[in-house]
Amino acid sequence: MPLQKYAEGAGHEVFEDSEDPDVLVKKPKPLHKRHFDFHRVQEDLRLAHKHFGDYLPETTVQKNDAIKDDYLVRQERIYNAQHINPVLLRKDDIRTDVESILHLNRAALDVDGCGLDFIGLEGSGKCVLASAEKLRGSIVETLLIRPGLYFGKTIERGTPLNFPREAEDWWKRGETTPEISNLVYGESKNRQGVFVIDLSLVRTRGLGMYEKVRSGVLQCWNKHLLRKYFDLTM
Ligand SMILES: Nc1ncnc2c1ncn2[C@@H]1O[C@H](COP(=O)(O)OP(=O)(O)O)[C@@H](O)[C@H]1O
Ligand SMILES: [Mg+2]
Repeated sequence: MPLQKYAEGAGHEVFEDSEDPDVLVKKPKPLHKRHFDFHRVQEDLRLAHKHFGDYLPETTVQKNDAIKDDYLVRQERIYNAQHINPVLLRKDDIRTDVESILHLNRAALDVDGCGLDFIGLEGSGKCVLASAEKLRGSIVETLLIRPGLYFGKTIERGTPLNFPREAEDWWKRGETTPEISNLVYGESKNRQGVFVIDLSLVRTRGLGMYEKVRSGVLQCWNKHLLRKYFDLTM
């Protein structure tokens, strides 16, 4: 039976598991696989467990034997998941969870040189659109924003700097709320609260130049967006 697509991020396509409705299966996209193989993902998962254990949904990684070095992540599905946004952050229990994850992130960077990419591609798209909201109805919207979003939707999928393809639809629907798309609020089997769902860590030690640059850029970007849109300190 073909797997039912559930969602998509910059690095993975996310599917429903055909046998277990409580599980999501994440398959890496071609560009992501160049730098994240089974061993890297296994190590990221170990570090994520060590530092963010209480906030992780049950997650395992297995080799996808059909393709050399390829992997599949299986993760407990969080029901009624909502990406963290400024409105959710006004609730005390949610804010406390997010602050605690930020605290754990500082410790993880300190001790093991690893941390989370909080914002994600979808969150970045929504933050940028939120900034452009005041230009709605202006000449800049007509000549620049709309054609730009149309172009973003039509260029080849999988380009690393690709603005999310859905951005044009979000703009049309007026969905301009900033989001931290790698943290969700929802329900697991055991509890309701905030969960860390994206375990592709930033790693500042021990890996090659590509990872140093990727991690450096993501950390600056996350720090800037968390402060600007969510009043959070990384
Ligand atoms: N365990 C989960 N429960 C509910 N939704 C999820 C879960 N994992 C991922 N998602 C949804 O799928 C999107 C992409 O998943 P993610 O693991 O962040 O992929 P990527 O590595 O490509 O960013 C998330 O932003 C979220 O909306
Ligand atoms: Mg993600």
